[in-house]
Amino acid sequence: MESIQVALAENSYEISIAPGNLDRLGSKCRELNLGHKVMVVSNPTVFGLYGDRAISALSQANFEVSYCELPDGERYKTLESIGHIYDQAGDRGLERSSTLVALGGGVIGDMTGFAAATWLRGINVVQVPTTLLAMVDSSIGGKTGVNHPKGKNLIGAFHQPRLVLTDPQVLATLPQREFRAGMAEAIKYAIIGDPQLFEQLERAAGLGQSQIDAQLLSTILTRSARAKAEIVSKDEHELTGLRATLNYGHTIGHAIENVTGYAINHGEAVALGMAAAGQIAVKLQLWTSGEAQRQNTVIRKADLQIELPPQIDLAQIVKTLQSDKKVQAGKGIFILPSQIGATETISYERSNPTEKLVSDALIEQVLTAMLPITSP
Ligand SMILES: NC(=O)c1ccc[n+]([C@@H]2O[C@H](COP(=O)([O-])OP(=O)(O)OC[C@H]3O[C@@H](n4cnc5c(N)ncnc54)[C@H](O)[C@@H]3O)[C@@H](O)[C@H]2O)c1
Repeated sequence: MESIQVALAENSYEISIAPGNLDRLGSKCRELNLGHKVMVVSNPTVFGLYGDRAISALSQANFEVSYCELPDGERYKTLESIGHIYDQAGDRGLERSSTLVALGGGVIGDMTGFAAATWLRGINVVQVPTTLLAMVDSSIGGKTGVNHPKGKNLIGAFHQPRLVLTDPQVLATLPQREFRAGMAEAIKYAIIGDPQLFEQLERAAGLGQSQIDAQLLSTILTRSARAKAEIVSKDEHELTGLRATLNYGHTIGHAIENVTGYAINHGEAVALGMAAAGQIAVKLQLWTSGEAQRQNTVIRKADLQIELPPQIDLAQIVKTLQSDKKVQAGKGIFILPSQIGATETISYERSNPTEKLVSDALIEQVLTAMLPITSP
């Protein structure tokens, strides 16, 4: 059993990681003195598998428990779904002391967190991540939100959970594709700050399989959660630039997700984004091609792609990058690796051809090289 603290100026909280934790949900919430009313937010897929256990753990701890069901999928990560949570919260009479429990992956976690941030100007949220991606990343750190047709996660708020309760046993039912997607985020942590973890991933077999060695899975969960907790503790609201390092692979990744209408999921897009950012770093002579190659080998070992789909619209990706939250007046930042375990923050100036900067032209050049080679 692992207990990691996210130490903040106000409202520090625990990330608890242990097999069987789902059955401790009620008692862990009780320890936090949460109000009487709790609403579990989930989708039919996850609730069908784990809803009864979550509800019964909370009921046994004497909470008044209700359930709000949202449809499953990134395309439902919208304000409309948030409206549905508000309707249910109103019908159930949730109060300032009440709690939303996010039982699901990153989509449910982000939406439940956002609803909790805004209902009555802020109520409690407890994150119970059920995908690898949510366990290593999205459930921790308080970034919440929904998508807008103009881009991913454009609407949101910072709202820290009261508790993150991780039960690795629930990964047994996770589809392999989703497991691989989570592994992309674990690889990200290794590249941006954990060379030891990277070496373990390099040596491991079956990285893309949820039947991965239990000890390695435990290492991945704890090291990733610790890394995120440490970064969030030092830069909760992404003000100093430290937290921005977590966006490695995400800038281009988000654009790919958006342009493909989320047919490529978040983790898959992050893998492609890391492959692209790695090549940009090599072109800017920040990173050696040997290390970029090692990164790509580990990505492939997790059965993730480093090749773009043949029909993808590169110009549209570059255009989408321009509406990225972090780009203003054509300027933004790119997180690029300088070695395995370290990154540099480089300016993105769309039309500036200076060698030390990331430009639209450089991005397009790198993405073009990532298209599959077609025979004439
Ligand atoms: N807030 C943050 O800091 C942050 C960080 C990274 C990603 N995100 C967000 O996370 C989202 C992606 O999250 P995700 O990859 O977890 O996707 P997801 O939430 O869509 O879950 C993937 C699929 O797995 C199913 N599922 C979940 N747990 C399961 C289980 N144990 N068994 C069987 N099926 C299960 C879900 O129902 C869904 O169909 C994106 O919207 C992304 O923007 C947020």
